Parts: sequence; structure tokens; C-alpha cells
Amino acid sequence: MCGIVGFTGQENALPILMKGLYSLEYRGYDSAGIAVFTDDGLQVVKTKGRIANLEEKLHEAGNPSSTCGIGHTRWATHGGPSDRNSHPHLGGRDGKVAVVHNGIIENYLFLREQLEKHGYEFQSETDTETVAHLIDFLHKGRQQEDLAQTVLTALSLLRGSYALGVVSMEDSREIVAARRDNPLIIGLGEGENMIASDITAIISRTRRYIILDDNEVAVVRPERVTVYNQLGDVVDKPVQEVSWDLSAAEKGGYAHFMLKEIMEQPRAVADTVRPRIQDGRIVFEDNGLTDERLRETEHIHIIACGSALHAGMVGQSVIESMGRVRCSVSVASEFRYTDPIVKEKDLCIVISQSGETADSLAAMRQAQAEGAFTLAIVNVVSSSIARQADGVLYTWAGPEIAVATTKGYSAQLAALYLVAAKLALARGLMDEAEERSFCEALLELPESIHKMLEDVGTVQYLASKYTNRSSVFYLGRGLDYAAALEASLKLKEISYVHSEAYAAGELKHGTISLIEDGTLVVALATQKRLFEKTVSNIREVTARGAEVILVTTEDFDGDVSACRCVIRLPACLERFAASLSIIPLQLFAYYVAVERSCDVDKPRNLAKSVTVE
Ligand code: G6P
Repeated sequence: MCGIVGFTGQENALPILMKGLYSLEYRGYDSAGIAVFTDDGLQVVKTKGRIANLEEKLHEAGNPSSTCGIGHTRWATHGGPSDRNSHPHLGGRDGKVAVVHNGIIENYLFLREQLEKHGYEFQSETDTETVAHLIDFLHKGRQQEDLAQTVLTALSLLRGSYALGVVSMEDSREIVAARRDNPLIIGLGEGENMIASDITAIISRTRRYIILDDNEVAVVRPERVTVYNQLGDVVDKPVQEVSWDLSAAEKGGYAHFMLKEIMEQPRAVADTVRPRIQDGRIVFEDNGLTDERLRETEHIHIIACGSALHAGMVGQSVIESMGRVRCSVSVASEFRYTDPIVKEKDLCIVISQSGETADSLAAMRQAQAEGAFTLAIVNVVSSSIARQADGVLYTWAGPEIAVATTKGYSAQLAALYLVAAKLALARGLMDEAEERSFCEALLELPESIHKMLEDVGTVQYLASKYTNRSSVFYLGRGLDYAAALEASLKLKEISYVHSEAYAAGELKHGTISLIEDGTLVVALATQKRLFEKTVSNIREVTARGAEVILVTTEDFDGDVSACRCVIRLPACLERFAASLSIIPLQLFAYYVAVERSCDVDKPRNLAKSVTVE
């Protein structure tokens, strides 16, 4: 989703802004632009398409040199991708103000009408241009005020969500930044400072940063950063330090970030699990999941979007079977608007890699308002969800750059296994010996994932064989169904091959009519008590001409003669099978996308961090 970067310092801002924009590419975007100060005023260069297109345009414009500027990658919401709708947007007839924005201004049409009455002419269909003109309008009427004061006034008139970067011709060294419900950080350098949507855009220049909170406004100058609250009072902000290296956000020799991140999964799972297992016992950091709370929990709500939702579905199954507490999984955007029944003794687990997903954040706030305890399972440290939840369980997967999550998802599963075991312990359903053997099995999981990653050749062969199928079906029951949903999502999001996941027993209630000669069906069967049932479903599809790839365990002794290929998982606790079965299916999606020459790390229309509703 939209990315913001800004720089003010001593060096030429342009290469720094461009590097920042490239590092924000992974968030997903369809156009890009920059605004810098030149002798002739604020110069804006922007274009639909990739940042490489912007580079070309900048080259034609003579690569304007400046020590301060703002940049933006846009993911279209109001108005399609076009040069005119790209950010930055200029405010006022003389273009004295430039604005970049991430989020949605809900009352922009009303404001636009009012501003048009005052003679403002709009060049784009965006909500953002309204902000630029509004700031210009307010600033003109309040000549004595500085830009930050004007921005504060403008914000009080805006409804919706935003992270904003604003520059004005009045001070060519200053950037004013603001946020509400959209991430924005300020990178602190020596004689230079930056604003950015996330750490990846600043890490090549500084590791120190502050996080802007909702309704705060920052004045960013080369020598200092001052943050104000809504009342205009100065706020003392804690300085944070980035905990990972630049190399973690680089490809490290792999063709794509996605492949690198798939390969990093043993480490991501190990880092999530190991610090929380000491001497064979589960030890949580202070995240509020006390034994008392877990004993008294009446209902668990898992709330998430996308792959995190699928992780939540695996979690639901493990939590219910181990902890015997009713657990429901909700799509965050649905949870918000279905008048959910949430009680004070409920535990609400919000799962999010980025920690910035707008719907997940809003759903979490709703659960909090109903009095539930909220636990965030989040990867990005100090992200909005992590900071606003009552307790946090970080997944230590490290920075994830590919839009399609892999290691983030696997680390979420590991965190959920820990929560399930903690619940079972607190409720007296697991004794110390069982805890020790559970921990032992969990500690072995990274090695089993590693084993799954060794046989890339088979998957590569399958991908080349099936790359031209127009549709693929994934089947499974229980845990395997949850894993099938994630496997199917991986394939369709990066390779654009239509794919559906079905609860294996449900297929015959309609979708089986789509099975014909040569249809590829990927069947998952990792739960012993369901083997026979899934075998019957495999027969149903092979009888209709489907070609089946079966993902199963070493124990599976059913008849596999009808399957084209059988991928076996190394021995593991059945409960952890979803962590292993997904590995070849992530690789399958990856290699199909590569075969089809897709932009694996940045699939069309998708964003890594979805910060709008
Ligand atoms: C986007 C991404 C998905 C991700 C989902 C939830 O749609 O493309 O890969 O699963 O958001 O993101 P979160 O950061 O909350 O896990």
C-alpha cells in the first residue's frame, strides 16, 4: 500500500528519496512521484507505473538537485492509476504546498466542493489533492501561523485515516508529517532526518527512529525534529533502534525475496519458539496471558486478514483440541460490522505480520472497547497493532519483503502452537511431562521444515509440468483444510492461476462439477483419523479425470496408485503438520509464478501492508 519517504539534510535528496522509494516497493503500488525544492519552486515529477518509469521522467527533467523533498508510491483508491492521480499533489494556484498521503480522507468530496467555491481547481480525482488545497487555503488565511499549525488546523477538518508528508515553499528545509491510523516513522540522522512509512526506507541511512502516534504532527528539519500533539504541545518521543541488519532486507543472492523468505522459515520458526522454551517449559514474556486469565477465558476470538487468517484457522483447530475453549475465527473486515458478541472474559487474538492492517487494527479496538483482553501476534516490532494491544507475542521472522507472506505465516503458526499449549497447561489439560514432550517436538519443527526445503527439485518439476493449468483445486479436512486455503492463496496471488481450496467433504456439493480430465487437484492428508475420508475424496476426483498431487505423512498407508505424485512429510506431531505441508506448496506457487514470468515479489494489485479499509 502507499509508501511515503521524505528527506531533509545536507546531501542531494533525490538519490536518497529514490532509494527509499525502491525499498518501499514491496508494499505494493501502481505509481510513484517526488517533490523537491529547486530555484524555480517546488518541482514535482510523478508517473503511473514503476519507479523505473519515474527514474526516466526524472532523467528527462534533469534530475533536479535539492537537499529536501518528499516521495511517494501510490496504491490507487480514489481515482485509477494515472500520472495526474499520482502523488505528490500541489496545493494552491501557485503550487506552494506539496502533499503525499497514505490513507483515505472520507469527507473529501464535501471539502472539495467547499474549496472549489473558493476558486480552487482540482487536477486529479484523488482525496489527497483536497488536503493540499485545504492546507494552502488555511495557510493563506493565517499568514502568521507556521506550516505545522496550519496542518494541525487542517487535520481537525479531516475525517478518515492518513499518514501525511507536507512541504511548503515557505521553508525549503522543512517537512511536516502527521498521522492518524496509518504508519509513519521519523528516521533520526546526523544533520539530516527522514520521514517514512516503514524502517526499510531509512535503514540505509540511520537505525534510530521515532514512531509518530495518532493525531501527532512532526516538524522535521535537518538539525531537529519536534513533535506536537493535537493541542499543539510539544511531545517527548522515545527513540527506538532498529534491531535487524540491512542485509535482512536484501535478497542475499536469491532470485526473489519470496524464495529467500521461504528458505528462512526454519530460522523464523526457531527464533519464534526458542526464546519461549526454557528447560522444557514454556515461558512467555510479560504479555498478559496469565494462568488466571487463560483459566477464566470463556471464548477466544481470532481476528485477521489474508494469510494471517489462515494461520488463525490452523490455530483455532489446535487451540480447541488442546485447550478445549471455544474459538472462532473472523475476517477482520467482517468482525467490525457484524455486531460481534464479545464479552469481558473473552480473549481476542489479532494476528498480523505487518501490525498495520487497518481492518485488523479497527477490529481489535472494537474488541477492546467491549472489554476483551487483546493479544497481538505480530511480526513488525512497535507497529500499531503491537502497540495498541493489551499484550504482544512477537513472531521473530525478521523483515518480510515479498508481498506473499511465507516466513511470517510459519512464525504465526509457531506462536499459535505456544498459545494453545499455554492454554492447555493453565486449564489443567496438559501435565509437565506432556509439556516437555510438546516442547521437544516444537523445537524439532525447524529441522523438519528444513528437510521439506531440501527437495526443491520435485516441486520445480511439478511446477513446470502444471504451469499452464487454468485452475487448481486444493482439498483437505480440518487442519489440512486450513493449510489448503493458504496453499491456494499462495498460488493465485503470485501466479494468477485461478485456484480454490475446498473442505474435502464439501467438494461433492457443487464444485466437483468443475473437475474434468486433467484438472489438477492438490490433496492434503496429514491427520491419521481422516486419512480414509480424504482417500475417498481423492477417488471422487480421479474418477472424473483429475490429476492428484497428494501431500501426506510417512504413516499414510492408503492406496496412492491414483495419485500422480506423493509428497511425504517427515514425522512430526500431527498438530504441527500444517507447518510442514505448506512448505512444498509455497515452493510450488513460487515456481509456477516464475515459470509464468510473473512479478513474484510484487504481484499485481496486491499490497504488503493494507492500511486502508
Ligand atoms: C495483505 C497481504 C497478505 C496478508 C494480509 C494481512 O493482503 O498481501 O499477504 O496476509 O494483507 O496482512 P497482515 O500484515 O495483517 O498479516
